[in-house]
Amino acid sequence: MSRTPFIAGNWKMNKTIAEAEAFIAALLPQVYDTEGVDVAICPPYLALAAMVDSARGSRVGVYAQNMHEADSGAFTGEVSAPMLAEIDVNGVVLGHSERRQYFNETDKALQQKVPKALDAGLLPILCVGETEEERERGDTERKLRHQVQEGLDKVPIERLPEVVIAYEPVWAIGTGLTATPEQAQDACGFVRALVQGFDKEAGTAVRVLYGGSLKPDNAAELLALPDIDGALVGGASLQADSFAAIVEAARG
Ligand code: PGA
Repeated sequence: MSRTPFIAGNWKMNKTIAEAEAFIAALLPQVYDTEGVDVAICPPYLALAAMVDSARGSRVGVYAQNMHEADSGAFTGEVSAPMLAEIDVNGVVLGHSERRQYFNETDKALQQKVPKALDAGLLPILCVGETEEERERGDTERKLRHQVQEGLDKVPIERLPEVVIAYEPVWAIGTGLTATPEQAQDACGFVRALVQGFDKEAGTAVRVLYGGSLKPDNAAELLALPDIDGALVGGASLQADSFAAIVEAARG
């Protein structure tokens, strides 16, 4: 079973529309011939439509960083899956640890969001990962099991292979601390085994990404690991050159 590597850049709350346009203009010529790697950027909501237009016809997909689980309603400040689909967004990051930590994202909401995204034609990137405390307590696997099982609970088996799961240890995000290759492989392999617990073939097909201080100089080592199919990149995705270098590393 061969899985297409996938590199997604999570910009978080960075870049105005003008800055996003400058980024995509610099990135496209660097990735136009990166056959065999799926590439996506995840800009803030307001830059999504502009990025969809600018990336049209290229190999760069455009993903949102969050969405609400309802189609519409009295949820001030929120954006729904049909709204993202209407502007041709390709997918959505769900359950990022910053959403969980600062904005009360819950596993219960994610249980609705993941299948809702798929229904709307958006590819979900479900983020999971343990805190430093949980790792030290020996609770990493318990935490991952809980988050993966809750997040995938309402996804029909036949759609499981479309879900992307990003393993991002919270202690490695934005800290400059990267998981060791052994820690990253163990956790990503464990995540895959959890999906295989739902359905053997789906678990083999599902793409598992690593995230957390991944940079051009450590990308090749992590991306070569057997259960790591790509990366969700934060800081190093903000510059077109470093992001393109990570895409190149994914070609192997
Ligand atoms: P980082 O962020 O690469 O800056 O550590 C990763 C993420 O939050 O997805």
